[in-house]
Amino acid sequence: MRPIKKIIFAILSIILILFITIQFIQPVRNTSGQVLQTDISNTYKIPPDISALIKNSCYDCHSNNTVYPWYSNIQPVGWLLEADIKNGKDKLNFSEFGSLSSRRQISKLRNIENRITDGTMPLPVYRLMHPSAGLTDEEKQFLSDWIQNTRDSIALKR
Ligand code: HEC
Repeated sequence: MRPIKKIIFAILSIILILFITIQFIQPVRNTSGQVLQTDISNTYKIPPDISALIKNSCYDCHSNNTVYPWYSNIQPVGWLLEADIKNGKDKLNFSEFGSLSSRRQISKLRNIENRITDGTMPLPVYRLMHPSAGLTDEEKQFLSDWIQNTRDSIALKR
């Protein structure tokens, strides 16, 4: 082998070994397997269509139960996904929505409406991998209306 070929071969072998090694570092899964009493679907009367939309588009990163795609078993893809789930859940967790004060619920609902209408949620990279998670204009409107009604009803109860 020519020296240059040896170097390329060595580099490729190192990359391959690294790739195989990191496969053993699997992140802990976000799958509690239960629906808490504080889940937004238990806190408010949510029409089934709205509930289905939120579950399909948001729950993977904003609840205690992620439905993992097969490629999440491949690192570093799984790590990137886990980082989004951790950051997403820290900011908003639909599974624990009912444990927030009414003031916080109202402010979270306002954030949710903004993120849906400005199209920054679900995350673009997620929409790329889950085309069905993208929201149409009608779905956005439908969600906005429901959010506004819910916000008003919380404000009235306070
Ligand atoms: C792929 C993961 C992922 C999905 C799916 C996702 N989000 Fe997020 N979301 C995040 C991450 C990460 C953050 C924190 C970073 C940021 O604020 O942009 C976040 C932040 C937010 C925030 C800000 C919360 C706050 O109070 O600061 C809102 C609101 C939100 N998401 C709503 C939604 C809604 C509604 C959906 C579904 C239509 C959704 N997200 C889907 C990952 C996700």
